[in-house]
Amino acid sequence: MNIAVITIFPELIDQYCATSIMGRAQARGVVSVSTFDPRDQTEDAHRSVDDTPFGGGAGMVMTPGPLLRTVAANDVPRPLFALTPSGRPFTQALATELAQLDGFTLICGRYEGIDQRVLDRCDGEISLGDFVLAGGEIAALAVIEAVTRLIPGGLGNDLSAIEESFSDGLLEHPQYTKPAEYDGVEVPEIVRGGHHAKIERWRRAMAMQRTRERRPDLWAAYRVTDEDRRAWREVFGEDLQP
Ligand SMILES: C[S@@+](CC[C@H](N)C(=O)[O-])C[C@H]1O[C@@H](n2cnc3c(N)ncnc32)[C@H](O)[C@@H]1O
Repeated sequence: MNIAVITIFPELIDQYCATSIMGRAQARGVVSVSTFDPRDQTEDAHRSVDDTPFGGGAGMVMTPGPLLRTVAANDVPRPLFALTPSGRPFTQALATELAQLDGFTLICGRYEGIDQRVLDRCDGEISLGDFVLAGGEIAALAVIEAVTRLIPGGLGNDLSAIEESFSDGLLEHPQYTKPAEYDGVEVPEIVRGGHHAKIERWRRAMAMQRTRERRPDLWAAYRVTDEDRRAWREVFGEDLQP
């Protein structure tokens, strides 16, 4: 998969994507991340990419020329997405959609945002959440990493991505590792035993309990199966109430 990022801070993206999971995924050829600096497409001595907003107001806005010339001059992969707080919220479902593509391009804003004529040429806008960052780079990295983990070969162990939070509409069950007892707190006996089917049912019940408590929005959308009800009864000794 080819991912391009248009940013005035290419080094932020390049450094992160050379490290850890992203670095290994790039070395294996699973994904290739390229960066393009819109300052390379400026026409003035100061390499300006921003200007004052029409109609007044605080701050500066990224001008259309450098961004759109960067898109055209480098034949970047499509679809083209801008990172904006007004975009489609980024979720594991959207990451899964993006992981099916051959590539895409992310445009990072800075200052008070991006001229609307650039956004009008994009195929979509993506938001990392209901908060305002100083720039789109952290959002771009979040998108790139979440998508890479879902591409076959993107992780050392592809099963890890299947079994974790959101993959089946639930949060993940609690995880434990060694030692079996730490500071007087023991790992639940059931996960220390070797009964795999029982452990699976315990994990399922814990995932449902955690999702119901912490994320009523996810729980409302989750369709409980007969197997889920059996797991709940086995673990909590009572019927699962809606
Ligand atoms: C300071 S923000 C601009 C915020 C803009 N004035 C607004 O109120 O929507 C600068 C840039 O950071 C990026 N950004 C900020 N928050 C973001 C978020 N929640 N998701 C994605 N990108 C974000 C966008 O690229 C944005 O153009």
